[in-house]
Amino acid sequence: MPTLTLDLLREKLKEWKGIGIAKNANPVLGEGNEKAEIMFIGEAPGEQEDKQGRPFVGPAGKFLDQLLEGIGLKRSDVYISNVVKFRPPENRDPTPEEKEACMPWLQAEIAIIKPKIVVPLGRHALGHFFTTLSISAAHGKAQVLRRAQDDRDSMYVFPIYHPAAALHNPGLRQALIDDFAGLKAFLATQKK
Ligand code: URA
Repeated sequence: MPTLTLDLLREKLKEWKGIGIAKNANPVLGEGNEKAEIMFIGEAPGEQEDKQGRPFVGPAGKFLDQLLEGIGLKRSDVYISNVVKFRPPENRDPTPEEKEACMPWLQAEIAIIKPKIVVPLGRHALGHFFTTLSISAAHGKAQVLRRAQDDRDSMYVFPIYHPAAALHNPGLRQALIDDFAGLKAFLATQKK
């Protein structure tokens, strides 16, 4: 079996037609630093992402870039992906079937990157890890996903609202800024 790499995944995703929306949309795998300690996971590509074949390059992506900058991170420091790898028409919510069918792609990315912290952006990505947690209750708090013997090797989930939610609901903007500050503080505790 060839070693699983992001390039190989990207090639395979181009051929994959496992869900209906894959027939009319462009594949969008994650991108970023292959050695990233933090992996951000959104919902599904939107219009710009579909056009460019890259995650988070539209208005929500611009806001994500600002939030990253605000805590001293660049896109090239992190890895950014989505639960669903194709744009749902009219940006509708992805269906449970689409999320489930795309799950192996995200799992493969996580296996390659091996992030220390995954940051689900919004409820769809949070649901990939914890089916019973709501984003309004869970955002801004680290959860242990896998506890390692040496705590420093544990893997954490740090849920945050989706940046697009703040574009529709300006009241959430500050919550996002605060949660990114919380993420920065959590990262600092991991470096000790
Ligand atoms: N929203 C998402 O969830 N993902 C993207 O890539 C862009 C917008």
